[in-house]
Order: sequence, then C-alpha cells, then structure tokens
Amino acid sequence: IPSDTGPTRDEVQAHRGASAIAPENTIAAFRAAAEQGARWVELDVALLADDTLVVIHDDSVDRTTSGMGSLGALSHADIAKLDAGAWFDTKYAGERLPTLAEVIKALGEFGLSANVEIKQHKHHKSLDQLVRAVQADINKRGPNTQIMISSFDPEALKAMHALEPDLEMAMLWGRPPEDWAEKLKAIPATTIHMHYKALSIGMLEETSKSGIKVRAWTCNNPIELVSFWGAGLTGVITDNPKLFLG
Ligand code: G3P
Ligand code: MG
Repeated sequence: IPSDTGPTRDEVQAHRGASAIAPENTIAAFRAAAEQGARWVELDVALLADDTLVVIHDDSVDRTTSGMGSLGALSHADIAKLDAGAWFDTKYAGERLPTLAEVIKALGEFGLSANVEIKQHKHHKSLDQLVRAVQADINKRGPNTQIMISSFDPEALKAMHALEPDLEMAMLWGRPPEDWAEKLKAIPATTIHMHYKALSIGMLEETSKSGIKVRAWTCNNPIELVSFWGAGLTGVITDNPKLFLG
C-alpha cells in the first residue's frame, strides 16, 4: 500500500536499470540501480535471428551499441563483439549487450527483482517461441529475485499468463482506453503501466476500487506525482530511482 507522499521502496522500478547514470539495459545499469537502493528494475527483451533472448529496447543495435543492424539479422556471436557502454560514456566502454539469461544471473547477485517487458518486433517469428524463451530464462532466477511481466501487446501477456499464471501481468498503455477493465480481464492482468502524463485522480479512484495496480512511466521528477499517491497510484518506473528512494 503506497503512502500518501510517495512510493514504498518495492514500488520504485529503475527503467532499463538506472539509465540516467549508466547505459540502459546493461549489467552496469542494473548494478547502479542496486547501488542506488532500488529493489526492482524494468528491462526490455527481444529475440535475435538465432533465437537468443537479449535485453535491449530497440529492434536494432544502432542507438545503444558500437554496431549496426536489425536484431533479426544478428546472432549471439555478432552481438557478443559489440560495445554497449561507450556510446553513453567512455567510462562504460567494454560493457556488453546482455542476454536475458546473463541478466537473470546478475539480478541474483545484486538482490534485484525485475519487470520483464516483452517487446514485439516485426522480425519475431512466433509469439509462442518468444514467451517460451522468456519462461525458460526467468525460471532460472534465484530465490531473492521476483519477476513480473509487462507488454504493450495483450497477446504476449495472454500467452505468458497461460504459461505462468502466478506472475503479475501489467498491460502497458500510453493512455489507457476507456474500457481498460474489460481489456485487463481478457488477459487476465491485474496491473496497468501507463504514461505519467496521462494519470488522473478519477481513473485512480476507479482502479483502486477494482484492486487494479497502476504504475507510472517514465517519470524522473517526483513533484509530477505528488498528487497521485494519495489517490491510489501504486508505483513509478524511473530512469533515476534515487530521486524516489529518499
Ligand atoms: O515499462 C515502461 C516503459 O519501459 C515502456 O516504454 O519504450 O521505455 O519500453 P519503453
Ligand atoms: Mg520498457
């Protein structure tokens, strides 16, 4: 239950790790989140051409690594050569684009839990294969790592829920549709992750009444959320967890 003034420690998720201070979706960013006192990180997953599941936001390596190319044209051997840190700051040179399996192992070492966001990209061949790959990796988590799943794709959440009915499922929307309650029920999902600019007190009163959790992304200024905690906002997804952890 959130307080009236801010989120509890378990309700601050470091977006792509502590991506304000370290290169997003790298082991360094997850380590930095833990060092800032975060207990949860958000991360994005997608498949390569050889079906390796990797932790990256975009559908190409262009923006966040030293290489070029669509994920659908690259193998694990290709991405293993790339530098995923120097683009952010030369002090992170040598950082790699990690697989989900590598990240799950690191989370155990850092004592972190994760919101695994399943990205649906055009090059993905089959949803079933995607969710089964996620399932295989998350089931290697350590005893101190909790996992929840989020996606903009309701079909990915449905397929994941069918495999892992005990995991929390969060539907991602910029602005939730009017019929959010029915859409959640169809998955079924218990949680909405929405853009913080679309928050409203009226909607939070409805979600609280229905027992639906709401987390806001990607907010890097605690002042923006002050009026929503008392109304039922559950948590925040932020590039800079320190700002919300006091
Ligand atoms: O989970 C919230 C946020 O990560 C959704 O958007 O584009 O940053 O993955 P994006
Ligand atoms: Mg994301």
